[in-house]
Amino acid sequence: MRIHRYERWWMTFGIGMLIVFLAFIGFAALADNIHPPSGLQQIDPRNITQTPPFDKPGLRRLPDGTYEAYYVAQVFSFTPAKLSIPAGAKVTFYVTSADVVHGFFIPGTDINMMAIPGWVNTQTHTFSRTREYLLICHEYCGIGHQDMFARIEVR
Ligand code: CUA
Repeated sequence: MRIHRYERWWMTFGIGMLIVFLAFIGFAALADNIHPPSGLQQIDPRNITQTPPFDKPGLRRLPDGTYEAYYVAQVFSFTPAKLSIPAGAKVTFYVTSADVVHGFFIPGTDINMMAIPGWVNTQTHTFSRTREYLLICHEYCGIGHQDMFARIEVR
């Protein structure tokens, strides 16, 4: 088969660009230490139930009066499904996933992150007012995605 000279140039150019882009992606993934924005800790997603403190998800009070909340996301729920927080509490959320990528969004706060298997993401918020919040998954994660939520009560 005869390929016109210009067509051969363009094919060479196109394939060359693909190789350049793949090299950039490979560099970003392997050499540039890319990881989720707040992901400082890694966790084995198959052993979450045996890995403290995720073996007992929930709220913990620290000696300095602040709180930590440990959450596990899985299709199609959050553990814990309901959390009670004292008003005025400064809470740092630690979130991971047991299966696929989920969202972790609490409308009315600045808590908005992803729950990623293998990673622990964190964000902090101070709950100043008494009210009930919804925690929702806002990453499409499968057939029951729209039913994936939990409740947070500030009392
Ligand atoms: Cu979990 Cu959508």
